[in-house]
Amino acid sequence: MASQAMQTNAADPPPSRVVVLPVVPVQGESPKRAQAAAQALGYPFLPRVESSTLHLVVGETDAWLVLDGTTVRLQFDSAAMRHRRRGGQNELLGRAIGVKADRQPQVWDATGGLGRDAFVLADLGCGVTVSERVPVLAWLLTAAKSAALVSSYVQVREAAERMSVLAADSRLHRVPEGAVIYLDPMFPERKKAAAVKKEAVLLQRLADTSDDGEDLWQWAWQQPASRIVVKRPVRAPALGTQAPSHSLTGKSVRFDVYVRPSAGVDGQDEGE
Ligand SMILES: C[S@@+](CC[C@H](N)C(=O)[O-])C[C@H]1O[C@@H](n2cnc3c(N)ncnc32)[C@H](O)[C@@H]1O
Repeated sequence: MASQAMQTNAADPPPSRVVVLPVVPVQGESPKRAQAAAQALGYPFLPRVESSTLHLVVGETDAWLVLDGTTVRLQFDSAAMRHRRRGGQNELLGRAIGVKADRQPQVWDATGGLGRDAFVLADLGCGVTVSERVPVLAWLLTAAKSAALVSSYVQVREAAERMSVLAADSRLHRVPEGAVIYLDPMFPERKKAAAVKKEAVLLQRLADTSDDGEDLWQWAWQQPASRIVVKRPVRAPALGTQAPSHSLTGKSVRFDVYVRPSAGVDGQDEGE
């Protein structure tokens, strides 16, 4: 019986590549939180490393990733996030998800990453479950949510209250009936501004670049979701075997929207 339990189920998704990175404390601060993070993640704790090494820096209240001198922080009340909010750049994402003045759907963000899209959706009033399979990113998402809960900005606190973080491979979960699934799979050939490109390189080092969008789309299609929204580079082919119900195209990204009235409670097609 025990050997039967050990058998791999052919339907299980393959395990993703495991990246182990050192955790270092902020110089001059207590190393306790860094040590706890290293222990929780199963990563080595080191007093210091070369800045060319991919590593996680953890201070008493802050944490960030470093690669080749590039720093990546998840901070939901940063100036950049507040600028994005004021600039109305979230409008296209909100419309793709189906957000209206009187309608804020429950969203399952199955590709959490740095949590920026998830936070934008929470800020637009949606309840968001954000799932991320790379442990260090899930740890940073949880830390960013905790920091946002005590932000001095009331909107940031309220948005953070609408977010839940799941450290998991989304394909092992079933989403609640009627949820909107949001997918933003890695796309190696994205053309980006230099700073964003460095961030993308860091994400690709952490996440599996073979990060299979098609696989995620197949999983999403089997869920009782009312809508699936996929972020794609403007000229990339659509994922999956079904044509999108409609697409919303911005300057550099496109949102392919699959409305599935029979699967859930929403089913209102924007018809764009
Ligand atoms: C391009 S990033 C998403 C960026 C995100 N939308 C943001 O605003 O920061 C893609 C992320 O999806 C994650 N991912 C890919 N497949 C996944 C899966 N099956 N389950 C959970 N996370 C997954 C990767 O680890 C990576 O962090």
